[in-house]
Amino acid sequence: TYVIALPCVDVKDRACVDECPVDCIYEGGRMLYIQPDECVDCGACEPVCPVEAIFYEDDTPDQWAEYYQANVEFFDDLGAPGGAAKMGVIEKDHPIIEALPIQPN
Ligand code: F3S
Ligand code: F3S
Repeated sequence: TYVIALPCVDVKDRACVDECPVDCIYEGGRMLYIQPDECVDCGACEPVCPVEAIFYEDDTPDQWAEYYQANVEFFDDLGAPGGAAKMGVIEKDHPIIEALPIQPN
């Protein structure tokens, strides 16, 4: 799967959403999250993010390694909804994101 990391927090550019052929990039309160079971690893999202927040899981920088779990665990209670568009903004974030101060952009 691909992972969205810290640079997305409080930015939410959403360019990635338009590129994803399976609509598996879901919007939380402060960042977006990739549903790991729905992502088909096409990689289309990665180059379009203006803040380079998206990584293939094995290429995620070490300092953002916890974002793999953040993306996975965001869906613990949501499962695989089968499409982000119909979900709209999901008014929550993973605890590691909730704990962050507002990010300067
Ligand atoms: Fe975030 Fe980049 Fe997508 S800022 S919403 S990961 S285009
Ligand atoms: Fe979609 Fe990016 Fe995966 S475009 S299928 S989330 S690699």
